Amino acid sequence: MKLNSQVDCPTTPMAHDVIPGLSKRQKSLPCKLLYDRRGSELFERICELPEYYVTRTERGIMEANIESIASAIGPDCQLVEFGSGNSSKTTFLLDHLETPKSYVPIDISRVHLLESARKLQQLYPDLDVLPIPGDFNSAIEIPVGPRPTDNRVVFFPGSTLGNLEEDEAFVFMGRIAKLVGPRGALLIGIDMKKPLEVLLPAYDDKAGVTAEFSLNMLQHINRELLADFDLDQFRHEAVWDEENNHIDISLVSLVDQVVTIGEEAFVFPEGERVAIEKSHKYTAEEFEHLAKDFDIKRVWSDEQDWFRVVLLQPRVG
Ligand SMILES: C[S@@+](CC[C@H](N)C(=O)[O-])C[C@H]1O[C@@H](n2cnc3c(N)ncnc32)[C@H](O)[C@@H]1O
Repeated sequence: MKLNSQVDCPTTPMAHDVIPGLSKRQKSLPCKLLYDRRGSELFERICELPEYYVTRTERGIMEANIESIASAIGPDCQLVEFGSGNSSKTTFLLDHLETPKSYVPIDISRVHLLESARKLQQLYPDLDVLPIPGDFNSAIEIPVGPRPTDNRVVFFPGSTLGNLEEDEAFVFMGRIAKLVGPRGALLIGIDMKKPLEVLLPAYDDKAGVTAEFSLNMLQHINRELLADFDLDQFRHEAVWDEENNHIDISLVSLVDQVVTIGEEAFVFPEGERVAIEKSHKYTAEEFEHLAKDFDIKRVWSDEQDWFRVVLLQPRVG
């Protein structure tokens, strides 16, 4: 069992994320708070829902093109995954890569990450699995592992990039270009703009799993910060923002209420929205603009071009 070099990267204490967000005129909470252990389990259930085309489509693209994806990545890589979740897409990729040296999964959902990494290490005893619990928007030192390689490949599937604000996404892409260097690459999943009748149900399913996932954020805050959010007094809402090309997910207060978090009290009038997540949908041009530090080497897509898996290399010079 090689799962030994567990490095925590810095995270801000949760109160620093929650209190300022709820003190603004337009209240908001960062989407990373969706992911405690229960949130990660609920997200896995979302991935199996008929309405959630994202996982199914990306997986289909990878399955149909795995030989060319693996050969474009090449041998002896270090695979670094940001927001790795249960690493389910990664196992499929690892099965086809030529002699990968190490795998570095990074995720905010610590317990879930460590459980997934342990299982993965058992599945791939020859691979060095080096999990890092933490926030991928903060500075993260990536271990080189016991068998260094200059073929470092960042895997960023699930269109998690779309959850970042535009300025954060630019910073993130710039950091990845530096991290992988001229001989490395980024393999990223990008959700494309598509008809609303496909998009909206993906974020508001009939079974109510996405609503439970959103409300679980309040439970997470209650537990960590001794807050008293009443989950029955909020509802999940997903709307499309046409001007900015994103799904806007909020929790809406169902009554006039006051919530206390430690010493602080927050007033929520009936109907007030707390923004909790954005999910950006890209046009090809928009993504190219975000990827300005890279050359786009390969693009794999599905028949309807709902989703793209893109391989990029940092631009030299
Ligand atoms: C949309 S899910 C994608 C999961 C998986 N990569 C996939 O493709 O199905 C986002 C993942 O990123 C993690 N995550 C979200 N925000 C994060 C942050 N700021 N830092 C680290 N991990 C984060 C979540 O815990 C979750 O596992």
